[in-house]
Amino acid sequence: MTTSPSPSSGPSPDTSGQREMTAAGMPTQRHEKLTYGSYLKVPELLSLQQPLSVPAHHDELLFILSHQVYELWFKQILHELHGVCAWLDRDQPLRAVQLLHRVHKIQHLLIEQIPLLETMFSTEFAKFRDNLRPASGFQSVQFRKVEFLLGAKNPRMLELVGEDQAARDDMATYIAKPTPYDHFIRHLAREDNKVFPIPASALTRDTSKPHEHTPELVAALVDLYRRQDHHHAGERYYPQFTFAEALLEMEEKLAIWRFHHVKMVERMIGAGVGTGGSSGAKYLAATLAIRLYPDLWAVRDHLAAKY
Ligand code: HEM
Repeated sequence: MTTSPSPSSGPSPDTSGQREMTAAGMPTQRHEKLTYGSYLKVPELLSLQQPLSVPAHHDELLFILSHQVYELWFKQILHELHGVCAWLDRDQPLRAVQLLHRVHKIQHLLIEQIPLLETMFSTEFAKFRDNLRPASGFQSVQFRKVEFLLGAKNPRMLELVGEDQAARDDMATYIAKPTPYDHFIRHLAREDNKVFPIPASALTRDTSKPHEHTPELVAALVDLYRRQDHHHAGERYYPQFTFAEALLEMEEKLAIWRFHHVKMVERMIGAGVGTGGSSGAKYLAATLAIRLYPDLWAVRDHLAAKY
C-alpha cells in the first residue's frame, strides 16, 4: 500500500465552530461576521481581472475570465485525481469511479466553454492580442501538472513555464508521480487470488515515462472486459471494468478539448504563430496524437475480434 493522502482529505470549508441555529432555523449571532462574500473571498476574486489594453477592449474581460475559470477547474481536477489514486490504493475502485465521473463533468464544462470564447471575432481579438506576448497557455503550470499526472510526461514542457523556480520545481515533481492507470494496475494486481495476471514489469515501471503498449497487460485487461460480459450470465462482477472505461472516457474528453481548442485557435489566428512562440495550430494539432493509456485502447481490438 502506498502512503497517498486520504481520499476524504483536502480543502474543505472552515467548520471550526459549527453554525448554531435558532429554533426557526436561522443562524445565531455567533457567526454574524461571516458572509457569502467574506467566506468565498468575492471582493478579492472580482479584483483579479485586469485588462492590459488601454482603453480596455470590451472582449478582454471575457478572455481573462475564461482562462481564470479554466485554472480554477484545473485545480479541482488535480484535487479529484489525487482522490482517485488514493481510493485505488484503498482498493475501492467504485469510489475512484465516482470521482472520475466528477472529472468528466468538469471536462464537459471546459469543452463547452470554448464556444463562449468563440463569440469573440478574430478581428476583435487581434486588437488586444499583442499585449499578451509572450504569455501563452503553454505556460499553464496546472495544465502541465494534469498532463504529467495523467501520463503525458514530456519534461521539455518544464522549460516553457514562465513562473518562478518554486512553481517549476513543484511542477517537476508531477513527472515522476504514478498515473491513475499505474494505481489501477497495482490495485488489479492485489485483486483476490491474483485473478488478473499482471506482469511484474507493469508494477515496477519507471513512472516518469509515458505508458507504453504492454501485450501481457492487454491480455489481463481483455480478461477483465470479458468477465464483465460473462457477469450477465451469472459470474462474479468485477467493478474494475467500470473504472477502466471511466479512465478511457477521461482521456477521450481531454482529446476532445484539445481538438476544440485547435479549431478555436485556427478560427482566431489562422495558421499564425502562437504568443508562446510555437507554430500555433500546427503544433497543437500534433498534440492530438498523444495517447495516455495505449493498452486501454488496444483491448478493444481483441474484443472486436471475438464477435
Ligand atoms: C482566443 C483564444 C485562444 C487562442 C487564440 C489560443 C492560442 C493558443 C496557441 C497558439 C497555443 C500554442 C502555444 C503558443 O505558441 O502560444 C496555445 C496553447 C495552449 N492553450 Fe490556448 N488559446 C486560446 C484560449 C485558451 C484557453 C481559454 C485556454 C484555457 C486554459 C487555453 C489553454 C492552452 C493550453 C493549456 C495550451 C498548451 C497546450 C499544449 O501544449 O498541449 N487556451 N493556445
